[in-house]
Amino acid sequence: MITDTTFDITKTTESRIDQVDFDELGFGRVFSDHMLEVEFADGQWNQPRIKPYGAIEVPPSLHVFHYGQSVFEGAKAYYVDDETINLFRIEKNYERMARSCERVCMPFVDRDTFLDGIAALIKVDSRWVPRKEGDVLYIRPFISAFDRVIAANPSETYRFYVITSPVGAYYSKSVKLTTSQKFIRAAKGGVGDAKFAGNYAGSFYPARKAQEKGYDQVLWLDAFEHKYLEEVGTMNIFVVIDGTLVTPELGGTILPGVTRDSVIQLARKWDIPVEERRITIDEVIDAGKSGVLEEAFGAGTAAVIAPIEEIHHNGTSVTPGATERGPVGQRLYDTIYDIQRSRTEDPFDWVRPIDVSK
Ligand SMILES: Cc1ncc(COP(=O)(O)O)c(C=O)c1O
Repeated sequence: MITDTTFDITKTTESRIDQVDFDELGFGRVFSDHMLEVEFADGQWNQPRIKPYGAIEVPPSLHVFHYGQSVFEGAKAYYVDDETINLFRIEKNYERMARSCERVCMPFVDRDTFLDGIAALIKVDSRWVPRKEGDVLYIRPFISAFDRVIAANPSETYRFYVITSPVGAYYSKSVKLTTSQKFIRAAKGGVGDAKFAGNYAGSFYPARKAQEKGYDQVLWLDAFEHKYLEEVGTMNIFVVIDGTLVTPELGGTILPGVTRDSVIQLARKWDIPVEERRITIDEVIDAGKSGVLEEAFGAGTAAVIAPIEEIHHNGTSVTPGATERGPVGQRLYDTIYDIQRSRTEDPFDWVRPIDVSK
């Protein structure tokens, strides 16, 4: 159980919850009543505050506008019953965010501020956690450079925020992927394994080019040889080849996904052969051609498991045996979904329940 220690809490006098149509949430458009804010100045973190969600007034010289020093995370809160809201592996988000911050030369809050701050925020806004099956409260922690000086050096002031957004069930229709001959997402020694804002900005143009050709996302290949699978948009990639679950190894260029790690641990527990290794696009195409590419799916917080129905590379397309979630993908999806909502055993102690009864 995550405790909620002292936070400076100012509650809104006018909740907006009654104006929200919980049947038409979409994604990331509606925000809960409160946010967590912690400021870093004079070499230290100030008292964390929970206050009404609202605009932040900043000058045009704000450091993050110019140099992009910004890192974020994505997690979810799950309604269990009126007394309990679950978080899933939230410590992993803390650890990843701390690593991301280090890579782009930013300080980061301590673990308790992050974990207890999120728990306190969810308690204050527990009514915003959707009750409808499949819907969840998306949690977006982020930290940005707040110096008001135009200078290409690390900022000396920062603000860490957590905002939350009730979101509709993610409809994971099967996705079509294409590799890119021209663009890359990350190179060794770069920032690919950090959840750094610029990584996303850099991927928008290639993704748009892929969409113009009728694909949903780019399947990124390695920057050096343009040969090995990396990841997809906001998901890590898995393929099932001849009964073995294969995913690219983490080599510094791929985001170490929380869902990826959960998939690997569950599959190993179920005695499904799992390989984390370098895998070439040619191996995937050949497996598709010879009929042993049984399943392909993306794994990430948003969709949990998103089936892949087509992989295109260099003029050749292959389709996995299962174009919807196959047996492995579906079992993983169902199990993770149920663990997140405390409907099944939690063998790895992944869930952190928050008591919202008082
Ligand atoms: C680039 C990238 N890869 C993979 C993932 C999947 O990570 P997770 O399972 O932690 O959501 C994400 C989502 O955060 C992402 O943005």
